[in-house]
Amino acid sequence: MPATVAVGCQFGDEGKGKIIDFLAADADVVVRFQGGANAGHTVQVGDELYAFHLLPSGVLRNRTMNVIGNGVVIDPEQLLKEIDETRARGHPVKNLRISDRAHVVMPYHKVLDGLEEKLKGGLGAGTTLRGIGPAFEDKVGRFGIRMCDLIDPETRRAKLKTIVPIKQRVVDVFGGSERIDAEALSTEYEAYGKRLAPFVGDTSAWLDDAIKRRKRILFEGAQGTHLCIDHGLYPFGTSSDCVAGAAAVGAGVGPQHLTDILGVAKAFTSRVGAGPFPTELEGPIAEHLRERGGGEYGTTTRRPRRVGWFDLVMLRMAVRVNGLTRLALTKLDVLGGLERVRVCIGYRHDGGVLREFPASMRVLADCAPMYREFLGWPDLPEEEWIRIATRGRRALPETTRRYVAFVESQLKVPVRVLSVGRSRAATMGA
Ligand code: GDP
Ligand code: IMO
Ligand code: MG
Repeated sequence: MPATVAVGCQFGDEGKGKIIDFLAADADVVVRFQGGANAGHTVQVGDELYAFHLLPSGVLRNRTMNVIGNGVVIDPEQLLKEIDETRARGHPVKNLRISDRAHVVMPYHKVLDGLEEKLKGGLGAGTTLRGIGPAFEDKVGRFGIRMCDLIDPETRRAKLKTIVPIKQRVVDVFGGSERIDAEALSTEYEAYGKRLAPFVGDTSAWLDDAIKRRKRILFEGAQGTHLCIDHGLYPFGTSSDCVAGAAAVGAGVGPQHLTDILGVAKAFTSRVGAGPFPTELEGPIAEHLRERGGGEYGTTTRRPRRVGWFDLVMLRMAVRVNGLTRLALTKLDVLGGLERVRVCIGYRHDGGVLREFPASMRVLADCAPMYREFLGWPDLPEEEWIRIATRGRRALPETTRRYVAFVESQLKVPVRVLSVGRSRAATMGA
């Protein structure tokens, strides 16, 4: 039984939450394996809109188990808030397991996130201020507190006693005025640990058993390929590996199980935060892309997203570093109403043409996109897109079909899922 990994191909916010929720109908388990509460995954069921930051996007389906793997950094306060809010909306959230090896985001991580961003000036990524960078720094620096420590009062208190004075010195040196009280922190986190303890366990062993029992497993990537700490824009991405291979490490499963790799890509490009963005648009077309179809505003921070044309240079790299076997293309409806739409096929740089995405931010900032232009398609009402989704890919306007076929032919990866609206119903297998 092949496991499916779904990852973002661009700068995050490709519509992964929506696609995971769609695929979760056939999955027994959904697993988050990296990132943290910097993620904001939107799922719309009927008229109800959910935005998940730490809960996996399969949580609304009661027969699906949801796992937060060891590769995720967990803010317990945020997670409990999400559990409470989801329960208040009628979902029991009993279908959750949390890895005992996942690291905990502490309040001082969020303080340091803000201080580091200020100190970095032009090197700042415009983070979500969720403490992600400092939490991963502590994981790698071996200053971290893991879920198994959080739920063990003695270890938690002992670790905090050593770590807090060090963090206090860092806060002071970085120009912060915040005081960290180890005792108060321990008491606050004891309460979180008590509430989360029933969910915590060895999720790698549990997943191994699920794989042996031939359960269908879906790995839910957060962020996107070009925010990946190794393969993304550096230093303008996030602090975790966001590519498909990270699912094996971040969930504790053997890579041989990960054979179905689905890349989620938006039919144009968007990003929140800083960094070069070759196909970025301003003016009326940017306004169109930002305002249509629910709006391009950060799910976690509500910041307006920067938008631009679809970029095959970014996608070619996503195909390669993730080993994509199929694609989901989202937000085709949002391009509706534009007379012409463009796709970037390469970058012009220094008198030549770059076909691969450059490592250097200085080179990237100097790249000029080369475009192929297509006739647009009409701005259809939501009900019409849903009608099209129920009839399948052949019912799409001809110009939309041509656009999708061009993307497929250039990437040599089949588009197997198409999304033409926010709701579950506006999705089609293709
Ligand atoms: P994620 O982080 O990849 O899960 O994506 P987000 O949820 O942060 O952002 C995607 C946004 O686009 C959300 O508001 C979704 O409801 C919305 N969305 C997803 N797919 C489609 C689509 O095909 N059409 C439209 N109009 N909106 C979509
Ligand atoms: P989902 O899972 C879009 C961006 C931030 C910032 C950079 C570093 O919803 O696709 P961080 O807080 O991680 O240290 O910020 O990465 N970023 C995202 N952008 N979607 C996300 O997640 C993101 N998670 C982080 O805006 O530029
Ligand atoms: Mg998002």
